[in-house]
Amino acid sequence: MKILVVGNGGRESALGWKLSQDSRVTQLYFANGNASTAALGQNYPSDDIPSLRNLVIKEKIDLTIVGPEAPLVDGIVDDFKSHGLEIFGPKGRAAKLEGSKSFSKKFMKKHGIKTAHAEIFDSYVEALKYAKDHAYPLVVKASGLAGGKGVVICDDYEHAESTLTQFMMDRIFGDAGIRVIIEEYLEGFETSVIAFSNGESIFPCIPVKDYKKVHNGDTGANTGGMGSVAPCPFFTEEHNQDFVQNILEPTIKGLQEEFLTFKGIIFFGLMVTKNGCYLLEYNMRFGDPETQSLMVLMENNLLDVIHDCLEGRNPELKFKDDKAVCLVLTSGGYPKNYETGFEITGVEKVTHSNLFFAGAELRGKRVITTGGRVLSLVATGKTYEEAKEKVYSDALPIKYDYEYYREDIGKF
Ligand code: AMP
Ligand code: GLY
Repeated sequence: MKILVVGNGGRESALGWKLSQDSRVTQLYFANGNASTAALGQNYPSDDIPSLRNLVIKEKIDLTIVGPEAPLVDGIVDDFKSHGLEIFGPKGRAAKLEGSKSFSKKFMKKHGIKTAHAEIFDSYVEALKYAKDHAYPLVVKASGLAGGKGVVICDDYEHAESTLTQFMMDRIFGDAGIRVIIEEYLEGFETSVIAFSNGESIFPCIPVKDYKKVHNGDTGANTGGMGSVAPCPFFTEEHNQDFVQNILEPTIKGLQEEFLTFKGIIFFGLMVTKNGCYLLEYNMRFGDPETQSLMVLMENNLLDVIHDCLEGRNPELKFKDDKAVCLVLTSGGYPKNYETGFEITGVEKVTHSNLFFAGAELRGKRVITTGGRVLSLVATGKTYEEAKEKVYSDALPIKYDYEYYREDIGKF
């Protein structure tokens, strides 16, 4: 089998690593890929949909798996299916559950899915009026895709006003911010539940904790993720029952009623408060860096699970009874301004962890930083402490200019 993985992050490195263990897989392709995927298969230097379709046809690729949200929202699945090509993921209509926060909020409300109270605004004046009349903090969200930067927690009216002005008038995210959601602020801990859909039902993996803030102790700016641990240690069986009853089951019913069912991934971004689980968002793809922790614990053959979903069977997901810790090494300054182009050394000294490159490219024999999130180190152990010790000891010999990582991933 030949498989194309679309994307170039640590997530795609981890998916490629898992797929490469399958003897049926004869060739892996990545678009665009990175330094890890270059070692697992062939990197293809373009990610626009028609050129990927041409690659799949020309190379007779059997299956495409999509990592990031943008190609899904842009309709890569619709395009491939209309050409008779096998692809794992939702069509554009269902990917809108991630691509449009107003669409997903309406879906949640309509189908009785437990979520924060929110109002949707197209009018700047109406949004300001609402913001003036409500208690703080309030959460202001751009409806469209804004590269993870479209959510602002506002502590007072002045902050809400300046955020609404930036989104709706200055259009800092272009059309993505002309419609906004103003949402009740929820206090609790976050959990990511990534699940496989077979077109009829949804099968959750173990819950994962993502570390979103850039600095130790969950301080500083929100990032794409500075680390993850699986299973999330705070998510109890009671939380799980609440999730299944008030979020998962009504989602399955809602997808069926709206003819939005699909074969792919659905990722529930939860906030767990003292009143139980609330759904913050859907992502219609694997999470990054959650996938890195999940893949090292997954006992199933990933291709079997994907085939089960594509053929409408129920996958039986199995995970090791261990703990996984994923530490993300970044370029200092990320998620704001950072410099790249520096050689990474010491990776050959990594002994206890899986190393998944992300923003790092192979140039000749050297690996050079190219992005904010440079690589992930992932290790497992009987305890979080054991897994944490492994990733931190493996991070020590890795060197590049402006290297930065949190020191408290997996520390409880
Ligand atoms: P979202 O893209 O909607 O998941 O929002 C991004 C991040 O903003 C989340 O992961 C949370 O950390 C935070 N956030 C979003 N909505 C809320 C909310 N209603 N209350 C508190 N924090 C939130
Ligand atoms: N780690 C969160 C995400 O992938 O969106």
